Amino acid sequence: MTNKPGFNEIYQASIDQPETFWAEQAENVYWYKKWDRVLDDSDAPHYRWFAGGQTNVCYNAVDRHVEAGRGDQAAIIYDSPITGTKDRLSYRVLRDRVAKFASVLLDRGIQKGDRVIIYMPMIPEAVIAMLACARIGAIHSVVFGGFAARELAVRIDDARAKLIVAASCGIEPGRVIEYMPLLNRAIELAEYKPEGCVVYQREQAVAELMEGRDTEWQAAEAQAQACDCVPVEATDPLYILYTSGTTGQPKGVVRDTGGSIVSLQWTMKNIYNVEPGEVYWAASDVGWVVGHSYIVYGPLFAGNTTIIFEGKPVGTPDPGTFWRIINDYKVSVLFTAPTAFRAIKKEDPGGEYIKKYDISSLKALFLAGERTDPATLEWAEQKLGVPVIDHWWQTETGWSICANCIGIEQLPVVSGSPTRPAPGWELAVLDEGGAPMAVGEIGALVAKLPLPPGTFPTLWQAKDRYFSAYLEQFPGYYETGDAGYIDENGYVFVMARTDDVINVAGHRLSTGAMEEVLAFHPDVAECAVFGVHDALKGQLPLGLVILNSGCDRSHEDIAKECIALMREKIGPVAAFKLVGVATRLPKTRSGKVLRATMRNIADGEPYTVPATIDDPAILNEIEQSLKALGYANT
Ligand code: COA
Ligand code: AMP
Repeated sequence: MTNKPGFNEIYQASIDQPETFWAEQAENVYWYKKWDRVLDDSDAPHYRWFAGGQTNVCYNAVDRHVEAGRGDQAAIIYDSPITGTKDRLSYRVLRDRVAKFASVLLDRGIQKGDRVIIYMPMIPEAVIAMLACARIGAIHSVVFGGFAARELAVRIDDARAKLIVAASCGIEPGRVIEYMPLLNRAIELAEYKPEGCVVYQREQAVAELMEGRDTEWQAAEAQAQACDCVPVEATDPLYILYTSGTTGQPKGVVRDTGGSIVSLQWTMKNIYNVEPGEVYWAASDVGWVVGHSYIVYGPLFAGNTTIIFEGKPVGTPDPGTFWRIINDYKVSVLFTAPTAFRAIKKEDPGGEYIKKYDISSLKALFLAGERTDPATLEWAEQKLGVPVIDHWWQTETGWSICANCIGIEQLPVVSGSPTRPAPGWELAVLDEGGAPMAVGEIGALVAKLPLPPGTFPTLWQAKDRYFSAYLEQFPGYYETGDAGYIDENGYVFVMARTDDVINVAGHRLSTGAMEEVLAFHPDVAECAVFGVHDALKGQLPLGLVILNSGCDRSHEDIAKECIALMREKIGPVAAFKLVGVATRLPKTRSGKVLRATMRNIADGEPYTVPATIDDPAILNEIEQSLKALGYANT
């Protein structure tokens, strides 16, 4: 009998000798040229993994599996209850289609290092487009379909995208969203003009293409010759993924090539406990980091079958959809957000739909995107009868900071905690001045530098912002932006964001960006947006607006216009539907808006009147405005 190392041993090795640890994992990856240095610290606190190495993401995700005899295995299963479509792409078919689409990109003038924006719904072509970029060393930037034209334009400008790859439409329950008007508007708004668009035509809404600018995907792919993978530097960017920060200008999180392959491949066995050939399903969207890491790259690096699911947990057609997918494709591991489970639980509290299907293939459920509330955890554990694992991570980190690494050794599940730091992560809880907090005390959650491979080495074209936003406050550490505590067993509890970022249905949104939008309304003099508790989505944004003096228009009309404005400028994903009118905002004497106090009032939570408030009387008025919206009920 061999003595398998336990979690503590593996964790300690990763902390004591990170270079040895990750170099060992890197042996499982295909390299055209091995690295010169495992960890390049010559520009600390900016670190680079596998400097000097050359590899290719697409080769590691697709081609090598075909060459190793996995060609007939399904790489992608596409299941779209929303269109009634199912498809299966073997690794061989995936390789051939990606190789051709990469040629289409080359023919459009895309070269190594060029940026390509991908604006697509959950169809296999979204994955093909991502892999095709990686095949030729182009940098993709996927934009979630729920974002409006203005958000797309901001990303086109920041990335200076040379090409946009899109579909003709996305489909939400009850409505088809035509993408062409959004694309046209975004290109019009953007200062940097992409050279062209490649559009995948879907039958639900065939787009009218612009002569000279647009290319039809299907026609171009049919004529293309396959092209090979090109070696790229391990430190070359694989993608840019924009995420919400404190301001309206999103942060362009960069993920590099070598670190991503090494880390994501390692997580598939060690965190998720799936073996090559097993079916792994992340029910998210390719527009989010979960989609990048665990719909596309992680499962494909590891030779798993991944599922592209175009539907919702409920309503497509019923709360049994997840169980049907598990039944039909023998899913081993499911990964989704707690909000999806809350939606299912609300419609089927007794779990009657589960009984209609054979879900015995399921080994574990992983949840992330927001804290898993104990009620949801308990319900899922009871109804599914498998370990339910909350794990904590961020767009910036690319994979989990804390997890119960069941592929190494399953630790006891503690409700409310994403367990302990994963190998590679050394965490601390610090006070505002950078001093360590005592065990069990809440403070800023920070990770010791260097971060492990697969995390973000920088922000796109914004090295200074990377430093000031993440590294400056606590020298030697990465500031996660989350607050929490670590208990006496080393279990981490992530409690809240320390900035103005809120989490709506597992989607990360900036209240600062929403305030910038409300400020566009001609009658709005001042405003504040904050997150209020919602039983289904975790949080919902609520806006309070102060109107220009002399404005006597109906408050109801102004609220409607604010909601429409948010939908137009940020997109439906903002889920912005709550607007109240007040005469003043509570502020400190130095003028800082007291959003946290207003949030507490809205949620009916006890709060202390801040000593620095300039006029405490105003809180009563705020309470009345919030009551009118159905909040502030103690
Ligand atoms: N394109 C266009 N619009 C989109 C969209 C997309 N890709 N995704 C969502 N939207 C729209 C929705 O249709 C909705 O519009 P509406 O205001 O007209 O109803 C709006 O954006 C808000 O969407 P969402 O917050 O997702 O709410 P929902 O009511 O449609 O669904 C859940 C609620 C909980 C079922 C859904 O959020 C869900 O499945 N979440 C899973 C979590 C997840 O995927 N998280 C990602 C990180 S793991
Ligand atoms: P995103 O970058 O969209 O993945 O959002 C990351 C943020 O979501 C984190 O900073 C946390 O605030 C929150 N988050 C994600 N997963 C968890 C979790 N398991 N527990 C608590 N918060 C989480």
